[in-house]
Amino acid sequence: MNDDREAQVQRGNPLRSAVDKRLPRIAGPSGLVIFGVTGDLARKKLLPAVYDLASRGLLPAGFALVGFGRRDWSKEEFQDYVREAVQARARTEFDQNVWDRLADGMHFVTGAFDDDAAFDALASTLAEADRRQGVHGNWAFYLSVPPERFAGVVHQLDRCGMAKPAEGQWRRVIIEKPFGHDLASAQELNKVVNTVFPEHAVFRIDHYLGKETVQNILALRFSNQLFEPIWNANFIDHVQITMAEDIGLGGRAGYYDGIGAARDVIQNHLIQLLALVAMEEPTSFSPRQLRAEKLKVLRATSPTGPFSETTARGQYTAGLQGSVPVVGLREEEGFDPDSKTETFAACTLEINSRRWAGVPFYLRTGKRLGRRVTEIALVFKRPPYQPFYPDQTNLLTNNAVVIRVQPDEGVLMRFGSKVPGVGLEVRDVNMDFSYSEAFTEQSPEAYERLILDALLDESSLFPTNSEVERSWEILDPILEYWDEHGEPDEYEAGTWGPASADRMLEKDGRTWRRP
Ligand code: BG6
Repeated sequence: MNDDREAQVQRGNPLRSAVDKRLPRIAGPSGLVIFGVTGDLARKKLLPAVYDLASRGLLPAGFALVGFGRRDWSKEEFQDYVREAVQARARTEFDQNVWDRLADGMHFVTGAFDDDAAFDALASTLAEADRRQGVHGNWAFYLSVPPERFAGVVHQLDRCGMAKPAEGQWRRVIIEKPFGHDLASAQELNKVVNTVFPEHAVFRIDHYLGKETVQNILALRFSNQLFEPIWNANFIDHVQITMAEDIGLGGRAGYYDGIGAARDVIQNHLIQLLALVAMEEPTSFSPRQLRAEKLKVLRATSPTGPFSETTARGQYTAGLQGSVPVVGLREEEGFDPDSKTETFAACTLEINSRRWAGVPFYLRTGKRLGRRVTEIALVFKRPPYQPFYPDQTNLLTNNAVVIRVQPDEGVLMRFGSKVPGVGLEVRDVNMDFSYSEAFTEQSPEAYERLILDALLDESSLFPTNSEVERSWEILDPILEYWDEHGEPDEYEAGTWGPASADRMLEKDGRTWRRP
């Protein structure tokens, strides 16, 4: 990327909010083609996000939305389907004028992914939209399809000439995870995609990076003087990164069986969070600088062994979610009762750098846990000396900075304070910043942000092929160990995972937070 382009990206960067607010970032002439448009993700997230962008005035006039799928739908039937998805899930209120403009630019092409004629029809539809709607040949192709379909779709786009832009146009591909199953398959996929689309035209979605609170990690660390001096092994005892869900597999058994919690969440979302928390300060937030720093810290990251003690995995059994009885994993519809796929995974990572040597990073994720929460807790060391009587500090634990990604987005600081009274008793108190109280503006949904960024060619929030491959390199040894050794433990739905997860920290004299 040349310096002009980099400067342009800087101007559009979220962290330059003063500029952002005055000059809203509106996409230029463009269109979005969604493969897998009848799937869950498209219905629940992508289509509502496109509407929300339209309703915030961030899409160009004549924006084209093209669905591709096996249904034998007319344009009107596709519009009805999108409208239903939008009315059910969009963040902004339904506005007939916004809808009419968006609906006008919609098209649907019927076909399967191996159907040459359907892709030829798609190419004609795009050419027609270029002429009639002023899309100018600027197309983003969103692959919301299982990874085994990527290669087929990408080759079809190539075959029909849709992957290659003419002079002054662009073509981009947006890819949903899971990006591979392990390092070898991810490398293979990258190779396939990169033979057709150059790396700068590939946008790999990790929707966690589109979340406001995740971007706030950068703001918190690098816009303040308060935190960075103590953000290292001299002061921090350990870091806990938790992504807990209260939902079970629901109708997703087919996708999830054989993938499991570590591949589904640790390989992407949690390792990305670790990278943002642990990386060095980039010289700017341009895609090149930001991704270089993330990759550097990931290269210094490795799993800590022995895995029998430093990792844990489990499957939920029947239990109570709140007060509602729920079935166990093996009773979920569509799930192979003999499957070893884990719904809870935890591991310990270390970062071999001056900043982080000796500081364990504990990562955990799971379905059917106590509550839905994603947070990063930096737990500080105890002061080397405390001039109190032991009974005055009984209720004092380690200081902590907790970045709450969701829900109740915000940042919490835990420190000791004197209990009112005649004695000098000290105990934990919380200082709590909450987004919803501090700001009146509602945060955009992650997919709004990421779709818009892809249309604007802003790639900072999209992991590169090297980051994806490095994340597999970190995780693969654990997955191989699990494959070869035993079975997942059990944990009751509504609890915080298997006992082995607690033992993981107990052996280090620590405990998991109960958020
Ligand atoms: C997805 C996982 O990436 O993230 C799902 O595949 C998970 O299993 C989802 O439920 C959670 O996303 P969020 O944004 O609700 O935390």
